Amino acid sequence: MKFCADPSPLSVSAIQSALGLCSLGRDMHIHDEVLSTNTMALALVDSGANHGTIVLAEQQTAGRGRWGRSWFSPPKKNLYCSVILKEVYPKDRLSWIPLITGLAITQAIEELANLRPSLKWPNDILVGDRKLGGVLCESTPQGTRRRAIVVGFGINVNSRIEEFPEDLHLSSTTLAAETGRLYDRNHLAARILSNLEVHYERLRSQSLQEVRAPYLASCSTIGRQICIRLVNGEDIKGLALDIGRDGALRVAPSIEFPHAKKSGKEVMEIRSGEVVHVR
Ligand code: BTN
Repeated sequence: MKFCADPSPLSVSAIQSALGLCSLGRDMHIHDEVLSTNTMALALVDSGANHGTIVLAEQQTAGRGRWGRSWFSPPKKNLYCSVILKEVYPKDRLSWIPLITGLAITQAIEELANLRPSLKWPNDILVGDRKLGGVLCESTPQGTRRRAIVVGFGINVNSRIEEFPEDLHLSSTTLAAETGRLYDRNHLAARILSNLEVHYERLRSQSLQEVRAPYLASCSTIGRQICIRLVNGEDIKGLALDIGRDGALRVAPSIEFPHAKKSGKEVMEIRSGEVVHVR
């Protein structure tokens, strides 16, 4: 990756020329400032945007994370991107979309930054235990005429940790902080999008193993003792065993854990939750 003392601004032509024949990114919108690229993308779906339309911004003033959190989105340093996917088949593989997006991101970083991030299920991008990026998928509401999935991802690229809010100092990291260099966000965006296209096409038309195997190879959750906070606020502790065909995390709950006794199940399949790696 080219070292740049003053990273270039985001540019449609720079990203599209690096994307070549990729079908994602033929329509691309870059904004100086938005509330959230996901919000912009959802609005674009409503006005008939094509499959593969990309929304990027130099800054988000109301960037959203999972679980209703906000996503720290300072200007001109990092990557905030949303992808409109309109042709998601087969339906039973839908929950793999956020997982393959995380995979596309970790692979792009490996290719460009000589760093090997891992994925915490479902799609947190980590270096060690610190968060480098995340993925937030949102769908247009049921019943709306134009259905699509918006895949939003944020990556901490050129920010310094000291620029982050203090409560994120120990839990976050950036590519620049990890490697001591600055990165061209246009190159990074193009790499991620072309990797995403490859995985997306595999997900649509090939054996699930084509995406599951590389995901498992990058996932640091499997084989770990974890604690999961479920959507209803309940916590489950146990050993992360595997990822199921539908993208669920398969967990062997701890014997001493009341939930395990209550459910009587040897393996629980978790479809949504916030994972903490315990050891
Ligand atoms: C997470 O909590 O880990 C997910 C973070 C997702 C942030 C990205 S930044 C681009 C897109 N727009 C948003 O408002 N959120 C996502």
